[in-house]
Amino acid sequence: MSQENVHRLDGRIFAEDGADGMVHRAFLRAEGFGAEQVRRRPIIGISTSWSELNPCNNGFRELAASIKRGVAAAGGLALEFPSISINEPFSRPSSMYLRNLMAMDVEETILAAPIDGVVLLGACDKTVPAVLMGAISAATPAVLVTGGPRPVACWQGRPTTVDEQWQVIDERRVGNVSDEDWLAFESVIHGGPGSCNVMGTATTMAAIGELLGFALPGSSLHPAAAPERMEVAEASGRLVVDVVARQVVPATRVTMAALENAVRTVCALGGSTNALIHLEAIAGRAGLRIGFDRLREWSRTTPFITDVKPNGRALLSELEEAGGIPAVAARIRHLLHEDVPTADGRTWGEVLDDAAPRSGAGPIGDPAAPLTPDGGMALMRGTLAPRGAVMKIAGAPGTMRRHRGKAIVFDGVPDMWAKIDREDLEVDESTVLVLRGVGTLGGPGMPEVGHVPIPAKLYNAGVVDMLRVTDARMSGTSGGSVVLHVTPEAAVGGPLAYVRDGDEIELDVAQGRLDLLVEPEELARREPVGVPTSAPARGWGRIYAKHALQPDEGCDFDFLVAEGTA
Ligand code: FES
Ligand code: MG
Repeated sequence: MSQENVHRLDGRIFAEDGADGMVHRAFLRAEGFGAEQVRRRPIIGISTSWSELNPCNNGFRELAASIKRGVAAAGGLALEFPSISINEPFSRPSSMYLRNLMAMDVEETILAAPIDGVVLLGACDKTVPAVLMGAISAATPAVLVTGGPRPVACWQGRPTTVDEQWQVIDERRVGNVSDEDWLAFESVIHGGPGSCNVMGTATTMAAIGELLGFALPGSSLHPAAAPERMEVAEASGRLVVDVVARQVVPATRVTMAALENAVRTVCALGGSTNALIHLEAIAGRAGLRIGFDRLREWSRTTPFITDVKPNGRALLSELEEAGGIPAVAARIRHLLHEDVPTADGRTWGEVLDDAAPRSGAGPIGDPAAPLTPDGGMALMRGTLAPRGAVMKIAGAPGTMRRHRGKAIVFDGVPDMWAKIDREDLEVDESTVLVLRGVGTLGGPGMPEVGHVPIPAKLYNAGVVDMLRVTDARMSGTSGGSVVLHVTPEAAVGGPLAYVRDGDEIELDVAQGRLDLLVEPEELARREPVGVPTSAPARGWGRIYAKHALQPDEGCDFDFLVAEGTA
C-alpha cells in the first residue's frame, strides 16, 4: 500500500551530519544510549502492548529484552514503544470495539517515529490482528512475535485449561459448585501470563501469523516465558534486521495464496471463528477481499484433523511435541500453496519438507480420516443471513448440522439474563435461541456473548446443546451449535431485526443455508427492532458508529481499508 503522501520519519535521521541528526541523536543520548549506539542502523521499533490491564500480554517485557539482544547482535538499535492494549475480559463494550483503534495507534506510531522496521508483539486475541493491520498500512518491514499460551492449571487432580471455565460457570449457575470450590477455581485457573491455553482465538491468530509469513514457523505454541519463546524473540530481532535490508513490505506477504493457506490451516486446526473476521480485515489492508464464496469453499474442502482443546482432547503442549502448526500444515500440504514465503525467507514448501508430524502424530490426525465429515467451520447464507454466518463444527460431536425450530428472541444480553433462567420461559430443546443487537454496531464490537447459555430448566434436565443464532461473536474457547456473525446484523436492519418469538428458523449445514421461514409479505408488515436512530455524540464511539464495516468486510473502518479493495 502506498504511503507516498505521508510525511514520514525513518532511522536515516540519526545518521545526518546537520542539525536534525544532532538533535535526534542528542535526545536518544538523554536515555543513556552511547555515541556508537545512536549511530547504529537499522533502527527497529518494538511495538509492545504490555499492560497490567492485559494479563495475556504481561510477558512482553521479557520478550522485548530478548528481541533487543537479537537486534543488537545483527548491528541494529531497538527502541521499544507502547500502544494501547486490549484484553479480552477487561474490555467493554467489547475488545473488537478497540481493535481498529490499536491498529491506528500502531500504524501512526510507526509512521511518525524514526524507525526502519518493527517487531510486533501480540498475544491476547485482538492484539495480533491489530498490530498486523497497523504494520501493513504503515508499509514498514515487520516481524511478529506472539506471547505464547499461559501454563495449564491443575484442578481437582487433573490438567485444566481455560475453556473448562464455561462448564464450571454453568454448574455454579445451577447450584452445583460450592463457594469453596468456586474460590479455589479462581485461584488456579490461569497459571501465569500468556494467552488462552487452547486453540482459541489467540492461538489461532498466532498460527495465522506464521502462515502469512510474519512470525517464525513453529513459534506459536512455545509456552509464554519458556526458553524457546525467548529464543524465538531473539531470533526475530536478528531476522527483522534482514527483513529491513531486503525491504520486505508487509502487504506483499498478504497474497490470496497466503490467505488460503491460513484459512485452510485454521480449518484443519479447528481454529476460532473470530479468525475469519480478522483475516478479512488483514486482507483489506493489503487490498484484497477474500469473500464468502472462497471462505466457504476452502472450509468445506479442508479436513479438520487436530484433536486439541477446546475441540478435542490434547493440550497445546502435545500438539507442539507433535510438530506444532507446521506439522498440521504438512498434513494438508496437498491443499496449500508451497511457494508462499515464510518469515525467515524460506518457502512453505521448504518448511513442510522438514515438518512431517513427529513421534506418532499425537493429536494430529490423518486427512483421509478427518475428525468431522465436513470440516472445522461451516459457513452459511440464506434469508436470515444474506451476507453470511458461521458455525464452528469442529469438536462438539453433537453439533447440529440440520435443525428447524421456533425462535425465542433476546434483545441484547440484559434481556437474555432477565429471561433465560425463568421457569415460565417457553422453550424446549428444539427451540432456537436468538440473541440479537450484539453485532458490530449493536454490541458495539460484537462482544463474545454468542454462546447463549442453555436455559436452566433444560440444563437441569440434561440438555447440553441447542441451536443458537446471533450477530455476536463467541470466544474461541467455546463450542456447541452456535451460528455466529449473522450478517447484516440487527442494528443495521438485517433480517435478524425482524424475527419474532415463534418464527421458524431452519439451519442446513450441508446446503450452507440459514433461513427465516416467514413470508416476505408478513416481514414487510413488521418494524425492525433495535436499529439505533442516532450515533454517539462524541469520541471514539462516534467514529466507530460512522465507519465500522460488517463482519464480511472484517469489521474494519471504511477509511482504513486499502484503496481499490474489491
Ligand atoms: Fe487473552 Fe484469551 S483472554 S488470550
Ligand atoms: Mg477470545
